[in-house]
Amino acid sequence: MAGNYSEEQVREIRERCDIVELVGTRVQLKRSGANHTGLCPFHQEKTPSFSVNSAKQIFHCFGCGVGGDAYSFLMQMDGLAFPDAVRALAERVGIQLEVQEADPETLRRREERERLLRINEVACGFYHSILLEAPEGAPGRRYLRQRGYDGETARRFRLGFAPAAWDALAKHLEKKGFDAQSVRKVGLIRPRKEGAGDYDLFRNRLLFPIQELQGRVVAFGGRALDDSLPKYINSPESPVYHKGGILYGLYQGREVMRKQGEGILVEGYFDVLALHRAGFEQVAAPCGTALTEDQAQLLKRYCGRVLTLFDQDAAGEKASYKAMEVFLQTELPAAMISLEQGEDPDSFLRSHSAEDFAEKVLQARPLLEGFMEKMLREAGDGIEEKARAAEKVMAVIRQVRSEIERSLYLKSLAARSGIDQELLARMTPKGAPKKAPATRDKPQEDRNGPPPPDEEPYSGFDGRDPDMPRPSAFASAPRKVQRSMSSRMEKAQEIVLKIMARSSYVRQRVREAGAENLFADALLLSLAQTFLSDPAPEEWLDTGALCARIDEEHKSRLSSILAQDAELLEEDFVVLFDDCLRAVEKGRMRLRKDELMRLQDEASRSGDIEALSGYLMELTKIKKILQNL
Ligand code: UTP
Ligand code: MN
Repeated sequence: MAGNYSEEQVREIRERCDIVELVGTRVQLKRSGANHTGLCPFHQEKTPSFSVNSAKQIFHCFGCGVGGDAYSFLMQMDGLAFPDAVRALAERVGIQLEVQEADPETLRRREERERLLRINEVACGFYHSILLEAPEGAPGRRYLRQRGYDGETARRFRLGFAPAAWDALAKHLEKKGFDAQSVRKVGLIRPRKEGAGDYDLFRNRLLFPIQELQGRVVAFGGRALDDSLPKYINSPESPVYHKGGILYGLYQGREVMRKQGEGILVEGYFDVLALHRAGFEQVAAPCGTALTEDQAQLLKRYCGRVLTLFDQDAAGEKASYKAMEVFLQTELPAAMISLEQGEDPDSFLRSHSAEDFAEKVLQARPLLEGFMEKMLREAGDGIEEKARAAEKVMAVIRQVRSEIERSLYLKSLAARSGIDQELLARMTPKGAPKKAPATRDKPQEDRNGPPPPDEEPYSGFDGRDPDMPRPSAFASAPRKVQRSMSSRMEKAQEIVLKIMARSSYVRQRVREAGAENLFADALLLSLAQTFLSDPAPEEWLDTGALCARIDEEHKSRLSSILAQDAELLEEDFVVLFDDCLRAVEKGRMRLRKDELMRLQDEASRSGDIEALSGYLMELTKIKKILQNL
């Protein structure tokens, strides 16, 4: 099954579709021998190296290496997840999709998602039309105009204005028949403390709808029109909004980003608008959070290099260097654009030309270079200070994956600090590095396709397929494979166990998913089962009492898990659990993939063509799912 569609249907749709015609709707193609060629939509080029083969029903770009079938074309072109590509193509070729029965819980969650997205959509339209044309939208229009933005920007970003009334949206949505409980869930309204009814979260604010990669509105940011506080109010996390998994502006900017091969990361909503206005559309912003690995992975789907452009103050600089570590983890080259102190992109572009800005972009320097310089400069000439700074820089250099770059940075640090290079190289890391360098040798995947799936967090819910098949339990995985479980997957399992002890919600979710599907490690599994067997209805399990019932080995593992990461207990368990679940799913897919590669090898050696084609098919599917996770 692919998502919830049968393999036969997926194949039938692919066969019914003509890839030349499909691509032809987006790319101007010219016949040339057996192929059709045109300018590649995935990178910028002047002479065509993009070719579509009608006989094989595939496309390939000799310039940037992207390629695949009709599904991959849609997925890469529109940022669709596989099931969405299936739906889109089915519609195109006129095949009625038969949805296979999903389990009731999946169905319930999917329906809820759809309902919540519809609410956001209606709210977005409501606020947008107020900003564009209603009398009560005048303050919003005035504010935008004052900052130099016109209706075109407002339309491109579907900006809105929330009027000052207490319950304009609440009333509107009620009239449209949405139940208050669902509207509360996306945070657009809140119940009044006393008395009946709800009030709107956004009042008298300019609204920025936050759109995922298919353009659906998942949340809003609302700016006050004056300097009242808070400056911004943002939608809370909800079943459709996970703020660490989305980037503002990526929906509008990703095509240009892909063509440029480069993206600019800014801090906020207005920076995105300002860059667009100046003609730099390859821009995105994390929504008021420190950059997460999910977000970096998202960027990596669209560009090969990121330029940070944060506010030119101490906080912005700090945020850049924090982002640097994330980019190192995701192996995404990153440089920093510098403007004059105190500027932000919006203010800079108000007093400078686009050419001036382009100049600044060209002058961007690798983040690590800037970091090294800053550390050494701040340390000055004091011997101890310098040593400590060198240690800090070394800690970062060690995370650079490319050996050549690592060695160049080492040389540079030695030269700048006057510390012997050998000595620097021998310096032992202070405290364990955040993540050990990957030891697993991983095959090089399509150079320019989506990033190779790894155990990094998956990129937000955008590419997520809520219907992804789950029930392939670990139980069947051979021991050898099980042991290669990634550390991230193991960590995810430990976290789940930890929060199981504190939340009946999490225990319920584990029950639904099936503990044996979640825990690959036998010891963790049996601990989880012990947790689940506790009939106590309390939110917090009495782990002390539980410990009395288990053997020494279990006890020591459990207490070490419970003792770690106390700060996790402050987190939102819903979000945390979903993250862990995704990590486990992804890890499991990888395991199955490794197994399939091995089986495929065996089958091809023994000449078992039938088995081989079966493995190949599953492998293709798994790779596709992994690409989208
Ligand atoms: P800024 O304060 O730099 O705002 O915060 P801005 O977007 O540049 O707006 P202007 O140009 O000053 O009007 C940067 C980002 O941090 C988040 C928002 O995402 C904002 O765009 N933020 C800021 C909040 O979420 N809440 C706040 O109270 C402030
Ligand atoms: Mn700013």
